[in-house]
Amino acid sequence: DIVPVILCGGSGTRLWPRSRATKPKPFLPLVGDCTLFEAAVARCPAERGFSPPVVVTGRQHLEHVEQQLGSAEGARIIVEPAAKNTAAAIALAANRLSEDAVMLVCPSDHHIGNAQAFVDAALAAADLAQDGWLVSFGIEATAPETGFGYLKRGEPVGEKGFRTAQFVEKPDLERAKAFLADGGYAWNGGIFAFRVKDFLRELAAHRPQIAAVVAEAVAKGNEDGPRFHPDAETFSGVESDSVDYAVMENTDRAAMVPANMDWSDIGNWDALHEALERDENGNTVRGNGSSELVDCCNVLVDTDGPRVSVIGLKDVIVVVDGNDVMITTVAGVQKVGKLDGAANQ
Ligand code: GDD
Ligand code: MG
Repeated sequence: DIVPVILCGGSGTRLWPRSRATKPKPFLPLVGDCTLFEAAVARCPAERGFSPPVVVTGRQHLEHVEQQLGSAEGARIIVEPAAKNTAAAIALAANRLSEDAVMLVCPSDHHIGNAQAFVDAALAAADLAQDGWLVSFGIEATAPETGFGYLKRGEPVGEKGFRTAQFVEKPDLERAKAFLADGGYAWNGGIFAFRVKDFLRELAAHRPQIAAVVAEAVAKGNEDGPRFHPDAETFSGVESDSVDYAVMENTDRAAMVPANMDWSDIGNWDALHEALERDENGNTVRGNGSSELVDCCNVLVDTDGPRVSVIGLKDVIVVVDGNDVMITTVAGVQKVGKLDGAANQ
């Protein structure tokens, strides 16, 4: 069986004012009717061979997680006493599973348009993990993004995979451009398949502190129904690092499966607009059907109530949420997270 390990951390300040500390990105219905978290759970159905999920999240998100898990049978939740980044979060789950289980590590803040392609890639990745590979999902790189990891395609392994000849987490712009020009690199989608014992062995080899401290926090933790609480005092001492830097950049056993599944990390308002349906002028209006766009092109209006009327703008995003109105050009979307409103929400 494949055990989905769903990571629910992060805040998503770049989607302010819709995404807020009290209700961050994974728990919002940003694309379609269900939330990104609900979609992440639904993508791993029992009938395709997935076990019930293990969700790793902080106390502050527990209420949303439990509410949105709803009736998902057999789901378990690991409640992190503190956010210590993904290496420790994944290690918590690994320490709660049997050593031959295959974990499918899934972020809960991505949009995947083609669920069938996701499952196909997950099954291929799980096969490779079964053979001892630490497997990433490779996404076709279409721009020199510096917020992603890059995977250099090596020799073929298994039926659909490749060895990852090089894993480079968040290169600078110059290197990202060189990778794109080279053509032999894919983005790391942030979804991984690991057999538990391989992950723990590689973590112990490259970040022994994280491996040892997490194992101790789990050994001293306690169960509370479907919830598990690692020992807070022990866990507070664990090094904070991402799985990409801690394990994937260092392991000799990295592989990748190409996944063509209409993926987006919805990292900003423009990326969200890309994932939504648009009219023939590239405009999208939602939240209030009487909002009106005249002579507009590539404009997104997302309002939680008030009618919004716009004339003659191009490449603009307007978001209304409660007492907050946020207006930005597409070029400005990366700065949204730095607004006072987003920082002090
Ligand atoms: N439970 C838990 N605890 N989850 C966490 C924590 C934590 O301390 N930190 C991060 N997460 C969750 C986030 O909520 C997200 O779902 C996922 O783990 C990845 O973390 P991000 O912080 O969003 O990582 P990133 O976007 O900078 O980079 C990763 O994803 C990219 C693709 O979106 C890397 O894997 C990159 O290589 C990759 O390209
Ligand atoms: Mg991310």
